[in-house]
Amino acid sequence: MDDGIVALASDHAGFPLKETMKSALDERGVAYVDLGTDGPGSVDYPDFGFRMAQALANGRADRGVLICGTGLGISMAANRFAWVRAAVCHDVTTARLAREHNDANVLALGGRIIGPEVAKDCLLAFLDTPFGGERHVRRVGKLGTPPDLSGS
Ligand code: RB5
Repeated sequence: MDDGIVALASDHAGFPLKETMKSALDERGVAYVDLGTDGPGSVDYPDFGFRMAQALANGRADRGVLICGTGLGISMAANRFAWVRAAVCHDVTTARLAREHNDANVLALGGRIIGPEVAKDCLLAFLDTPFGGERHVRRVGKLGTPPDLSGS
């Protein structure tokens, strides 16, 4: 599969694992852009989730990897934008199904939760697994067009 350009972003808690993910992408020959953070100093994870959403919107990247301590906060930030489908994954099975069923365009990882080898396995499953299509097209489409619930 054509990997396109992968954007990576993390907060301080995800910074070490982001460097590991960059090495894994280098080994595989995948082009990437690093959206920060650039060191272990404390930063706010929403800022980096928002950077990811921006990079996907403006075509700077085709998909992404987000990392904070748990993967939760940074994915919540990115998922506020309709074109982002960030999935927190803890193993190769969640990473594979995030692609097959959810057409996830962002892999979210917890730098304080999983180790580097499991994270690399997640990354490869995320890159290699195509979207399953079929019934999942309708369901993923609904994610991008939520109903107006304001009157209910
Ligand atoms: C930072 O301490 C931590 O709260 C953050 O990395 C993340 O886990 C939030 O969801």
